[in-house]
Amino acid sequence: MRRFVVSLAAAVAVLAVPSRGSAVWPERPITMIVPFAAGGPTDVVARIVAENMSRTVGQQIVVENVAGAGGTTGSLRAAQAPPDGYTIEMGHMGTHGAAPGAYPDLKYDPTKDFEPIGLAAGTPIVVVAKKDFPAKDLKEFVAYVKQNSEKLNEAHAGTGSVSYTTCTLFNSLVGSKPTRIAYRGTGPALNDLVSGQVDYMCDQIVNLVPQIQAGTIKAYAVALAARSPALPDVPTTKEAGLPEFEVTAWNALFAPKGTPKEIVQKLNGALVKALDDPNTRKRLLELGADLSNKAATTPDGLRKLVQSEVARWNKVLKTAGPSKEAPVKEAPKK
Ligand code: MLT
Repeated sequence: MRRFVVSLAAAVAVLAVPSRGSAVWPERPITMIVPFAAGGPTDVVARIVAENMSRTVGQQIVVENVAGAGGTTGSLRAAQAPPDGYTIEMGHMGTHGAAPGAYPDLKYDPTKDFEPIGLAAGTPIVVVAKKDFPAKDLKEFVAYVKQNSEKLNEAHAGTGSVSYTTCTLFNSLVGSKPTRIAYRGTGPALNDLVSGQVDYMCDQIVNLVPQIQAGTIKAYAVALAARSPALPDVPTTKEAGLPEFEVTAWNALFAPKGTPKEIVQKLNGALVKALDDPNTRKRLLELGADLSNKAATTPDGLRKLVQSEVARWNKVLKTAGPSKEAPVKEAPKK
C-alpha cells in the first residue's frame, strides 16, 4: 500500500506543471464537458477515456453533460471556460467539423477558439432502423424510404451533430425526405428507436453494438470500406450497394484557446497513455471504435483534422441544402 501511495505521489509530482494562478496542475478535479446527453457515443467514449486519464494526471476528470443545439451549447461553454487546464471538452466531427456549415451564426470557431489535445477515437457510422422496419437489407431499405419517406421519422442529435450531418448526406444520396427529430444526443434517440417510436437513424457505432447484437434494432450497413470487427455480420455500404456513403466520424479532446502548452502536452500524454492501455483499448475496440489514426492523436495532427473537416462538411451541407425539404422537429423532453 505504502509503495502504491509513494509511486502515485511520484507520478503526480512528475505531472505537476506551473500554470496561471496556481503553483501546480492539476491541484483539483478537471471537468470534461460532453456536449450531448448521457448514454450516447460521445458520453461513452468520454467516460472510458476520462477514467484512465484520471489515474495518470492524479486528479478526477469529471464528465459533465451540457447538451443542446447539436452539441454547440456545450462546445461554446468549453470555448469560453478559463484556459487553466480545469475544463476540457470531448468534441467530435459535428461540433468541431460540421457545426460552422450548419450554423451561419455559430458563436465559436473550432479552428481558432480551442487548443486541440488529441483524437480519442474514430467512430464509423451505421445505418440502423427499428427492429420491425419492413426491409431485409440496405437495397430494400433504400427502396422503401424512397417511396415512403414522408411517413417516416429519422432521429438525430440536433442540427450539426454527427447523426444529423451524416444522415443529411445519406438522405440526399438516396432521395429520402423524412421528418427529422432532434434529440439532445443519440443516447435518448436510440431509446426511442428501440421502442419503435422513430424509424431510422445514422449513428456512431460505439452507441449501437450491444443493441444490434441483442436484436433490439436492425443494422443495414456500416459506412466503411471494410467490415467492422465489432460487427462482422453487418455488410459495408459498398457491399450493400451504396458505396458513395462511406463516412467515419470521430471524437477528440479540446481545451479552451490559451490553455498553457505544457498543460496541453500533459493532457495529450495522458490521452495517448489511455489509448495504449490494453484494457481501455479493448473496451473501445469492442464497441467498434477505430484506433488506427495515430497521426491525429497529437495536438498538431488534430488541428489539421479539424481544418480539413470544417472545409469538407461545409461543402457537403451546402450541396445537400440541409433539411430544406425535411422538417426538423424537437423530440419531446422526457
Ligand atoms: C451525434 O450524433 O452527434 C452524437 O451521436 C451525439 C451523442 O454523442 O449523443
